[in-house]
Amino acid sequence: MKKAFAFGFLAAMTAFAARADSYPQRPITMVVPFAAGGPTDVIARIVAEPMSKVLGQQVVIENVAGAGGTTGITRASQSAPDGYTIMMGHMGTHGAAPALFKGLKYDPAKSFDPIGLAAGTPIVIVAKKTMAATDLKGLVEALKSGGSSINQAHAGVGSVSHSTGVLFDSIIGAKPTLVVYRGTGPALNDLVAGQVDFMTDQIVNVAPQIAGNTIKAYAIATPERSPSLPNVPTTKEAGLPDYQVSAWNAVFAPKGLPEDVRKKLVDALDAAVKDPNATKRILELGGTVPKTEEAGPVALQKLVESEVARWTPVLRSAVEGSNP
Ligand code: MLT
Repeated sequence: MKKAFAFGFLAAMTAFAARADSYPQRPITMVVPFAAGGPTDVIARIVAEPMSKVLGQQVVIENVAGAGGTTGITRASQSAPDGYTIMMGHMGTHGAAPALFKGLKYDPAKSFDPIGLAAGTPIVIVAKKTMAATDLKGLVEALKSGGSSINQAHAGVGSVSHSTGVLFDSIIGAKPTLVVYRGTGPALNDLVAGQVDFMTDQIVNVAPQIAGNTIKAYAIATPERSPSLPNVPTTKEAGLPDYQVSAWNAVFAPKGLPEDVRKKLVDALDAAVKDPNATKRILELGGTVPKTEEAGPVALQKLVESEVARWTPVLRSAVEGSNP
């Protein structure tokens, strides 16, 4: 009996080792939970390219939009933990969503194998070109007096643009009409066209349009100005020091990956965020690349846990209308 067990165990380990050694044998799907062309999609495509080179198989982007990113993340969280489905999550889907999204079908801190941080993405307050206000103080006055006649774009409850948007509104005491999009890529198109009035969005999405002078940037919500937007003041400089918020994008896999498969994905992302071309593109767009202490799965797990803890009380009170 013992011999049979030993052979069985050996066969299983050999098969396991063969599978992990040969992983990946086919293309890998990276689910992006928002429409193509938005910030999550942009970061995903930047890191997918060098990841494909390291893994020797194409990392193929699949945009699965809806419900503030939770549709795509839920679907990816329920896929087989075999390394062939990963996802690009962020501070919305894996930080703010539990506070804002009723009946979330995943737990950001428990339903995933964290792979690593891809990029930091500071938040910028932007408006249509024809917005009369010439500075943040003027914009705040216009938003407060405009009430529900003002339209604010976002990418769905719990998304970065929604959570940072409702926080902004609660701090300044504005109550605009919220207009939902399948991502801030499409939202930006409407902002450029003047079909929507303003939004708070990740710098990697809006930096090119700000540089192109097709939309107005009022402030960036980080302590320091962005080197890619040197003329955009910080919220502190612009008189709204309480509005300090920055987002991030990170790669996750469904919980339960074989260890060797997980390590290959971690190593591939680590190489991607150190890839000179990828780094250049992220920095050009105003994003930040992970510092050593921010990189990798352990740091990402800690970030998710701290972000859920941080955003839950802040956003719950913001949505209830009282200041955080
Ligand atoms: C968001 O959370 O606002 C998303 O990042 C928007 C997007 O990526 O399209």
